[in-house]
Amino acid sequence: MNIIIGNDHGAVDLKNSIISHLQSKGYTVKNMGVDSTDSVDYPDIAEITCTEYKKGGYDFGILCCGTGIGISIAANKIKGIRCALPQNIFASKMAKAHNNVQFLAFGGRIDYPESVNDMIDEFIRTEFEGSRHGIRVDKIMDIELSNDNC
Ligand code: RB5
Repeated sequence: MNIIIGNDHGAVDLKNSIISHLQSKGYTVKNMGVDSTDSVDYPDIAEITCTEYKKGGYDFGILCCGTGIGISIAANKIKGIRCALPQNIFASKMAKAHNNVQFLAFGGRIDYPESVNDMIDEFIRTEFEGSRHGIRVDKIMDIELSNDNC
């Protein structure tokens, strides 16, 4: 499995913990984020990470900032990208099963009720259910297309 990750200065420790976890499982991780706490702008990180993802070859991506909020909003502005901000393992599972997102976002300054690594493992284990959920995901992408010229 090939996973891409990006983070701003608010999530360096979280990013490192995620990378260690994924590498311990034998996965390859491409690090597009920063490795220092010097301030950067999370929209830039979302853009370079999603642009690299769209070149192909990645199974999915992870984006982290202080809360996960800003970087997920930015990612969702990039054509074709669906990025979820799961609160717990159940939401992470549903992000794949129902929403078939390509990116998960997390916050380095958030106290999660369950571990981020467990949320990621559940996402990896889960399959997209398709069917009515496929119709709904297609409708999301249709909104993106129909608002292209607004
Ligand atoms: C940076 O201070 C912080 O605003 C950013 O990491 C993120 O939390 C934004 O949503």
